[in-house]
Amino acid sequence: MAPKEVIKVLVTGAAGQIGYSLLYMVANGDIFGHDQPLDLVMLDIEPMMGVLEGVAMELNDCAFTTLRSVVATADEKTGFSGIDAALLVGAMPRKAGMERKDLLAANVRIFKSQGKALDQFAKKTVKVIVVGNPANTNAGIAAKYAPSIPTRNFSAMTRLDQNRAQHQIAAKCGVTIQDVSGVIVWGNHSSTQFPDVSHAKVNKGGKSLAVYAACNDDAWLKGDFIKTVQSRGAAVIAARKLSSAMSAAKACADHMRDWFQGTKHGHHVSMAVPSDGSYGVPAGLIYSFPVTIENREWKIVQGLEINDFGREKMKVTADELAQERADALAVCQE
Ligand code: NAD
Ligand code: LMR
Repeated sequence: MAPKEVIKVLVTGAAGQIGYSLLYMVANGDIFGHDQPLDLVMLDIEPMMGVLEGVAMELNDCAFTTLRSVVATADEKTGFSGIDAALLVGAMPRKAGMERKDLLAANVRIFKSQGKALDQFAKKTVKVIVVGNPANTNAGIAAKYAPSIPTRNFSAMTRLDQNRAQHQIAAKCGVTIQDVSGVIVWGNHSSTQFPDVSHAKVNKGGKSLAVYAACNDDAWLKGDFIKTVQSRGAAVIAARKLSSAMSAAKACADHMRDWFQGTKHGHHVSMAVPSDGSYGVPAGLIYSFPVTIENREWKIVQGLEINDFGREKMKVTADELAQERADALAVCQE
């Protein structure tokens, strides 16, 4: 078989905490394929160029078979030119006591600028994941300032929330992670997100059971389970005095691997993507939905039955996103 064409991958915020874990997974082939050669570009701000020089040395010293070249830069034109994938991590993280939307004014300008850089320099087929918070709203701003790139090529990360939810269910039911499937995260990557297990299954004792039957604790599923997932980022900050980094990098790798390599037959994953009005979510909001992916194209899973409990929670998080978008657009006008 002919060797695959080389792809160009950008990681921003490459000198940061998430970057250090993520770059390893990009370079070793876990995301784009172990037979997929890639050129890696690391973008950060000028004062971090010394750090990136060291990271570049380490990446080269890993002797990865998929890594063709590594470039470190603080220049957006160099960073975004000809890229196939953009992993937009670089942004300020929150500190204890802050909500992610408190980062909006500081971070949204980064995504306006990077949206313009995508528009001018990236391939029109580029796939973009935004990790920097508030992730959904930043993704919407980047898309707005990149009108020549299809909006559906922009996404934000809620996979960490899905992974967190999956772990909570596995631990509660006394099964392994592989035994839990079908968890959905709806809406914003924020404390209003709705982790929904009403369509999820647990494989227990050789039987496939609905999560409500397997857990047998409706009060927990409707209460503490949801709260734990919604506030997990804050709990990690309180304990580590730094925000999640290893788990965020792993979730980013999961998201991009599934986007480039497809979801398993019959399985969906959660991704914040531009709403097309599905499930009554206002069109254009970058909202987390269950999606399936084939040939690098995602599709929102249709026809799931949503009860009153779920519908109300899905609306709360949509309303928050609409407000965040209005606030972000106001910052962009300043
Ligand atoms: P960090 O402070 O360790 O690293 C951020 C890096 O971004 C720094 O090296 C900084 O210099 C760089 N940076 C700042 N402005 C930049 C710009 N304009 N261009 C390129 N690089 C720039 O932070 P971190 O822990 O790596 O977190 C990064 C972001 O990811 C934060 O906003 C954090 O809240 C967010 N996050 C999101 C999720 C999620 O699930 N969506 C999970 C964890 C963290
Ligand atoms: C997370 O969910 O861990 C990140 O979004 C970081 C944060 O501020 O919570």
